[in-house]
Amino acid sequence: MAGPDKTPYYVTTPIYYVNDVPHVGHAYTTLACDVLARFKRLDGFDVKFLTGTDEHGQKNEKAARDAGMEPQAFVDKVSENFRHLAKAMNYSNDDFIRTTEARHKRACQAIWKRLVENDQIYLGTYAGWYAVRDEAYYGEEELRDGPDGKKLAPSGAEAEWVEEPSYFFKLSEWQDRLLDFYEANPDFILPETRRNEMASFVKSGLRDLSVSRTTFKWGVPVPDDPGHVMYVWIDALTNYITAAGYPDVESYEFTRYWPANLHMVGKDILRFHTIYWPAFLMGAGIAPPKRVFGHGWLLNRGEKMSKSIGNVLRAEDLVARYGLDQVRYYLLREVPFGADGYISHETMVGRINSDLANDFGNLAQRVLSMIAKNCEGAVPQPGPLAPADEALLGQARGLIRRLREAYDSQSFHRALEATWEVVGAANRYVDEQAPWALRKSDPARMAAVLYVLAETVRHLAIMTQPVMPEAMAKMLDQLAVPADRRDFAALDSQLLPGTPLPKPQGVFPRYVEETGEA
Ligand code: MSP
Repeated sequence: MAGPDKTPYYVTTPIYYVNDVPHVGHAYTTLACDVLARFKRLDGFDVKFLTGTDEHGQKNEKAARDAGMEPQAFVDKVSENFRHLAKAMNYSNDDFIRTTEARHKRACQAIWKRLVENDQIYLGTYAGWYAVRDEAYYGEEELRDGPDGKKLAPSGAEAEWVEEPSYFFKLSEWQDRLLDFYEANPDFILPETRRNEMASFVKSGLRDLSVSRTTFKWGVPVPDDPGHVMYVWIDALTNYITAAGYPDVESYEFTRYWPANLHMVGKDILRFHTIYWPAFLMGAGIAPPKRVFGHGWLLNRGEKMSKSIGNVLRAEDLVARYGLDQVRYYLLREVPFGADGYISHETMVGRINSDLANDFGNLAQRVLSMIAKNCEGAVPQPGPLAPADEALLGQARGLIRRLREAYDSQSFHRALEATWEVVGAANRYVDEQAPWALRKSDPARMAAVLYVLAETVRHLAIMTQPVMPEAMAKMLDQLAVPADRRDFAALDSQLLPGTPLPKPQGVFPRYVEETGEA
């Protein structure tokens, strides 16, 4: 729903390495972006939400060879895993970029040329300890000794001494300009603790960065020197401007969506996004993004999930077991966004049964079945508002302001906490007003109470759509809210008394342990 009258909002995920099996860690980053994208769309923004896959580099070249395939055929195949994940998790991305696409090659070569013109790139020799598995060079001091006299990177990957001609980006010249940029844009790096880490890293001094390779072929050729391919970060990071139409900087797409509002990344790649990327962009005369948020890791049994450790949880498996919206809710509610956090079966079941089934599900179910039984299955008639009614409706109506604030600082858990405060207040209101006891004594007041509750549930359901789109659609169906009255502008309207309602149905089933104990 693009439109010049709407404010643009461009949000991106990292592009994922295709040679990895997608797991819940990858799903987590994209989920956060999806929820933001959905929230902003409902709030009237013109959203562009980008995700995709990172497909060049030596690792893929090698993996393709091992599989007896051409690199392109190999990445075509494995990048499908990430499209599958996007479907399984119900992501609403507007574009899916692959770094092996022609549009991306064009953008990479264009930014490279600009960097050369601006005297930011020169030819030199690279010598250093290189770990193929990490696609990274390491300083001698970072390595430890492994078996058989081998050198190991901090990740445990084997590092080897490599010397080759290489183009370099003059990162060492960017120290002061980066620090000035952070100073002038205090929200550029979030959370704040990570901003301080990045600033001290820059203060400790920056070395020029090797940005090309001659030892492998699977990459974007360097313009005018095709013996070199671009080394992974210049290629990978450029995806964000490729998808905004670069190098056509005059285009509608580029002028509208660049600079991006938010690059969401895991803390493992924050350095590349907050040091290299703004330096590349400023070096090429392009504005840096407005914000980079570095979130924490999801830990399974205390360790970051990875294929090599073998502790990978697949998002598809969690969804099959617990339900899609349940998993979406849990991941953003359980771990304060930004910090590292544990996920487990026990806490998942706790959230499903208490927050979803008991608190929110029961609230909706109780209200809708009382209406079905006692109000002829139609939206009841409101009455004059008692102080308790005003208090509850005030809380429900005030929620949107709190959510905007929470989402604008990527505080997903706070957004959900604030929402569940209203759920809790509504449940207390049901108990205090005891509409079932008013049925005989004061049917008009019973109807008024049920109207206030139905309105509250409508508010909650509309505002929870970004996190649980399918479940909330069902809830809004049961309140007979028309499809075009489900955005945040519609919060100002009200349920129309007398509107017939469908037969109520529970939206959040309890999770019963497979053993049957539960
Ligand atoms: N291809 C690069 C990124 C290039 S962006 C221009 C890359 N890919 S990756 O597939 O290894 O990881 C991408 C992201 O996945 C991480 O930054 C992080 O956001 C997410 N996660 C991977 N494992 C994770 C966890 N265990 N927990 C949370 N997020 C994790 O790096």
